[in-house]
Amino acid sequence: MSQKVTKAVFPVAGLGTRFLPATKAIAKEMLPVVDKPLIQYAVEEAVAAGIDTMIFITSRSKNVIIDHFDKAHELESELEAKNKTELLAILKGIVPPNVSFVFIRQAEALGLGHAVNCARPVIGDEPFAVILPDDMVEDGTRGCMSQMVELFAEKQTSILGVERVNPADTGSYGIVKTPETSEKYAKIDVIVEKPKPEVAPSNLAVVGRYILTPAIFDKIKNTGRGAGGEIQLTDAIADLMKDEDVLAYEFEGKRYDCGAKLGFLVANVELALLNTELKDNFKAYLKDLVSKF
Ligand code: G1P
Repeated sequence: MSQKVTKAVFPVAGLGTRFLPATKAIAKEMLPVVDKPLIQYAVEEAVAAGIDTMIFITSRSKNVIIDHFDKAHELESELEAKNKTELLAILKGIVPPNVSFVFIRQAEALGLGHAVNCARPVIGDEPFAVILPDDMVEDGTRGCMSQMVELFAEKQTSILGVERVNPADTGSYGIVKTPETSEKYAKIDVIVEKPKPEVAPSNLAVVGRYILTPAIFDKIKNTGRGAGGEIQLTDAIADLMKDEDVLAYEFEGKRYDCGAKLGFLVANVELALLNTELKDNFKAYLKDLVSKF
């Protein structure tokens, strides 16, 4: 019987040290790109893919994420009383109807594999998505996860979202090797976490989008500490590949590495240029600014 992806895991327990001091008291996932926090883009991408259960793997300092997806009664009444209907719609839109939110604490930061395993009691025996909110993907239409869910409907096997990166940057990513193909997807032969450029099997990098079969959980259980002393999802996927096909899918759209300052700034500029309210004035400002360089 063909299975559907209805649940997404958002590992959001990380400390966000790359954005200090901004992330001393707020979660890095709450940093806004234009006017929306990163985590909301990630949830909207999941909703667009037909996913209705959002599972957040959080930590002590991330309660603000729980608040963001809770109903804000006082604010809603205030906006209602003042007849601010547009703002009210924006506020209510944060929590789409028929979508459930589940929050699980990851008591110790033992790595991405460990974080994903924390969702096991809620996922059960179903395929599921993993979305890393740091990696924001803008495809202008249905969204990256939607593309992957469509492919999953056909293939019924694990799929990783991948893109070509600068060969000098392989040490920041899970890197896969696939046979040459004219298709947008291929079966992965090799996957390795954060290889140095000299030993990287390719420059095809896993970005923060996965659809995994539930068989991954037993694999994570048997995965020891890997790169950086952490329990790596990549290592568990390498183990899964011994039993099942895992596909790499080169998604359509542009990925912004919002976990790094430059990528975050680029995302803000490019999304502002797509924003109907801002784009004309912002473009005029940028043109003027560039003319002075
Ligand atoms: C994680 C994964 C890595 C993946 C990356 C994508 O690394 O471990 O395989 O390529 O996300 O952003 P992190 O960036 O959390 O160190």
